[in-house]
Amino acid sequence: MANLDYLIAEAQTDFTSCVDMPALENAKAKYLGKTGALTEALKGLGKLSTEERPAAGAAINVVKQAIETALNVRREAILGATQAKQLAGESLDVTLPARAQSQGGLHPVTLTLQRIEQLFHSIGFDVATGPEIETDFYNFTALNIPENHPARAMHDTFYVDETNVLRTHTSPVQIHYMENKAPPLKIISPGRVYRVDSDATHSPMFHQVEGLWVDENVSFANLKGVVQDFLQKFFERDDLTVRFRPSFFPFTEPSAEIDMSWNGGWLEIGGCGMVHPEVFKHVNIDSEKYRGFAFGLGVERLAMLRYGVNDLRHFFNNDLHFLQQFNK
Ligand code: DAH
Repeated sequence: MANLDYLIAEAQTDFTSCVDMPALENAKAKYLGKTGALTEALKGLGKLSTEERPAAGAAINVVKQAIETALNVRREAILGATQAKQLAGESLDVTLPARAQSQGGLHPVTLTLQRIEQLFHSIGFDVATGPEIETDFYNFTALNIPENHPARAMHDTFYVDETNVLRTHTSPVQIHYMENKAPPLKIISPGRVYRVDSDATHSPMFHQVEGLWVDENVSFANLKGVVQDFLQKFFERDDLTVRFRPSFFPFTEPSAEIDMSWNGGWLEIGGCGMVHPEVFKHVNIDSEKYRGFAFGLGVERLAMLRYGVNDLRHFFNNDLHFLQQFNK
């Protein structure tokens, strides 16, 4: 029986050249597989005499065990290297700087709306809201706006279909509110409104705040007091005064434009008036017994003046450099 010791060195060299498990399995087959060198040697034992067999078998086993040991050593080495490589790839450098977090903030129009609501709330006004899609009745008819009024034209109003519009003002909330509640009523109604208009001072969507106070003895003087008081607080200027300029709105009589003193001149800031008896008629409020005043203010206008913004479009461009200035 030939000496098989040389197989140990050969197997060791073979195994060492293997860098992954499939290669090692192939190399293993060469020695220990079905047709491997040692398997063949074991088969050869049958040809030996009974006396020779034990010693030959023991010698083959010694070689076989040595090869298996070499195989295991290499297997451990390959697995270890694979794992080390994986761990290196997944490693976390805890000394790296953390990703920066940016602080969000409220939009200047939202901040302005909050300020308006808070100031009116402090003098007893509730906040009422209404739908942004209104029927022709709520947006126009109930507010005494006649069939042929220019505001109803397609080039001023976004029509959803024949009878529904995107509300062009917050005044229809007055109607919803008076339909559902009996006087005395004291509300403001802030919200989005829509008009077919777009330039540096007009946006197709903007915000208004509507005011309504209905009670037995509400007067034009109360209206002026409330509006002036609000504007003084809003702009933090005790010397701010308000001037009413005669005007026309179908839903108020008499009607006025509200001007406020600003840098030595006057600035138009909204419209107002005493609720028209026709409007009361639509909501079944007795205009002999009750009187009311209403006003409408432009929210972006107030925000532009308070923050010194010179172009309305800044509010809608979503430019972070602009918006971040309002983070507190
Ligand atoms: N709705 C008017 C507009 O959008 C604003 C307005 C004027 C509202 C007079 C009123 C008011 O309540 O009395 O132009």
